[in-house]
Amino acid sequence: MTTPANPSPDESTYIIDAENAAEMSRLTKQDRLLTKAKGVLFPEQYDLSRVQRILDIACGPGGWVLDVARMYPDTQVEGIDISNLMIEYARYQTRVQGLNNVRFNVMNVLEPLNFPADSFDLVNARLIATFLPTAAWPRLLQECLRITEAGGSICLSECEMPITNSPAFEKMNSLVFSAIEVSQQSFSPGRRNIGTTSVLGRLLRNAGYQHVQQKAYAVDFSAGTEAHISTSQDWMVVFKLMQPFLIKMGATTQEEVDRVYQQMLAEMLSDDFCAVWYFLCIWGEKPQKI
Ligand SMILES: C[S@@+](CC[C@H](N)C(=O)[O-])C[C@H]1O[C@@H](n2cnc3c(N)ncnc32)[C@H](O)[C@@H]1O
Repeated sequence: MTTPANPSPDESTYIIDAENAAEMSRLTKQDRLLTKAKGVLFPEQYDLSRVQRILDIACGPGGWVLDVARMYPDTQVEGIDISNLMIEYARYQTRVQGLNNVRFNVMNVLEPLNFPADSFDLVNARLIATFLPTAAWPRLLQECLRITEAGGSICLSECEMPITNSPAFEKMNSLVFSAIEVSQQSFSPGRRNIGTTSVLGRLLRNAGYQHVQQKAYAVDFSAGTEAHISTSQDWMVVFKLMQPFLIKMGATTQEEVDRVYQQMLAEMLSDDFCAVWYFLCIWGEKPQKI
């Protein structure tokens, strides 16, 4: 039997194999890209004054958790993820960096969270739409509310697929939209987007959060920009590692996706490649007890 603290990798709904070292390495680099794009670990408007206990849900290799722990040594920061590989790596980094205000644990967040009520002042989660079926959002947000102290907050960051002028990149996007419709991870009618960013505010308010605020960020990774090569490499790896998922969901065949992928590589590296990748950071507060 699997438990929240002992999930089976076979049960993972993540669109990429989280036990793959290439994915762990990609997430480590992507964390740098996203933190650089935002320029900050928390939205500038977010009030950190009363935050002492922080949880990061689906923390991957732990880059965000470790940054927060280093920058705010008086906070206790915990990261949880379903992947043993990610958590082992994050724990190793904790030891290497000599941090004593960090903990990492394996946990499946599709199950009830293994924490008492009111355990945290802030629950953070970035890019969890990559494994969360649309129907699972309300229950997870209820769990986040339960484990957050009254007056504490949640902070979510989600993205849409990049908008580009590359026909092959756009074709890869359309394969993703088809696949996530089948896996029931799409909030977009008619396979046009991922759609998560449009519904985050409503999901938070429906779960009981108040004072919901948001801020959008964008990474321009067109040819000639500083982000071109690093972000293009990120997407090259994503689209390679996602192929088993795309095929399993019936969105494409290996022959088709190989052809589109090769064309996409050429188009991404051409001088006239234009692309922007948008993501939304949204946060809300658990009401004070009356
Ligand atoms: C796109 S990555 C995001 C990682 C990290 N939040 C970041 O932004 O760098 C998604 C993460 O979700 C984890 N994951 C997938 N399914 C999960 C589940 N059911 N419970 C907890 N973590 C899960 C994966 O192992 C992976 O590390």
